[in-house]
Amino acid sequence: MKHLEFSRHRRLRQTANMRALVRENYLRTEDLIYPLFVVEGENVKKEVSSMPGVYQLSLDNLKEEMTEVDSLGIKSVLLFGVPDEKDEVGCQAYHDHGVLQEAIRVIKKDFPDMVVIADTCLCEYTSHGHCGVIEDGKVLNDPSLELLGKTAVSQAKAGADIIAPSNMMDGFVTAIRFALDEAGFQDVPIMSYAVKYSSAFYGPFREAAESTPQFGDRKSYQMDPANRIEAMREAESDVMEGADFLIVKPGMPYLDIVRDVKNNFNLPVVIYNVSGEYSMVKAAAQNGWVDEKSIVMEMLTGMKRAGSDLIITYHAKDAARWLKEQ
Ligand code: PBG
Repeated sequence: MKHLEFSRHRRLRQTANMRALVRENYLRTEDLIYPLFVVEGENVKKEVSSMPGVYQLSLDNLKEEMTEVDSLGIKSVLLFGVPDEKDEVGCQAYHDHGVLQEAIRVIKKDFPDMVVIADTCLCEYTSHGHCGVIEDGKVLNDPSLELLGKTAVSQAKAGADIIAPSNMMDGFVTAIRFALDEAGFQDVPIMSYAVKYSSAFYGPFREAAESTPQFGDRKSYQMDPANRIEAMREAESDVMEGADFLIVKPGMPYLDIVRDVKNNFNLPVVIYNVSGEYSMVKAAAQNGWVDEKSIVMEMLTGMKRAGSDLIITYHAKDAARWLKEQ
C-alpha cells in the first residue's frame, strides 16, 4: 500500500508512561515561593475578601502558618508588611522594629532554614499609597532611593535572606546594593522586580496590603503593558546594577516577556503569578466553571515552560499538596 507522507506525533503519546518519558518540563515544590501578608495586632487571621484562602496574619499566627508551609516542603516565603501607622514618607518601612522586620525575626527563629524574602517598597507604608516620596503630586526618584536603601538594610538586619525591591524607581538595585554592602551585608542577594508592568491584575493585592494609591496611578513608574523591548532595557539595567534574580510581573499575560528575559540574561528568572490571576482562578473554581487543580497545575507548568526558574504564587500551598499526591 502506498503510504501518505506525514509524521506520526501520536506515537509518543499513547500511554501515560510513554508520555512521561518525553515530558520536557516539570514543576517542583522547590520552585514555589509563597507570599504572606503580616499585620500588627494580636490574633488576626483575616481573609482577603477578593482572595479566598489568603489571609492577613498577625505575628502570633505566623508560626502555625509557617509550620504548614514548611511541612509541605516549600522552601521560601515572600513577606509583605501592613503597618497600622502610615505617613508621607513611610517611616514604618525602615523602622528596625516595623511589622515586617519583626515578622522576619519570628520566622527565622523557628525556621532558620526557610529562605525569607522581604518585599522592599514604600506603598504599604505611605499615607498616599505611592511607592516613593511625593512632591507636587509627583513621585520623586532619587529621594525615594535613599529610603529604599534604609529599608533594605533594616530588613537584612532583621535576618532577611533576600531583598526584593518592587517600587520601580530607576537605580534601585544600585542604591540597595550600595546600602547593603556599606552595612556589611555583601552576601545578601537582591531579587529585583526588574520588569514590572502597571497592571490591573494587582487589584486584589492592594486590598490585602492596603496599598491602593490615594490619587493618580503608578503609570509613571511601572511599565506600559504594550511594551516588550522596554522590558529588555529594564532587565539589562538591573543586571548591570548587580541584581541576583530577575522578576517578571504579572505572570500569565506576560509569558513572552519571561521567555525574552530567560533567553537574554543569565540570571535566575522569577515569575510573579499575581493576585488578580489568583482571584480569577478561585472565582471560576468556586463557581464550578473550571477544575481548580488541573487549571493551576497547567498554569504553573506553563510558567516553567516559558522559562521561569521560580514562581511566586498564592497557589503555592495547594500546588505543593498536589505535587505530593502525584
Ligand atoms: C508593591 C507590590 C505590588 C505587588 C507586589 N508588590 C502592588 C503594586 O505595585 O501595586 C502586587 C502583587 C500582586 O498583585 O499579587 N509595590
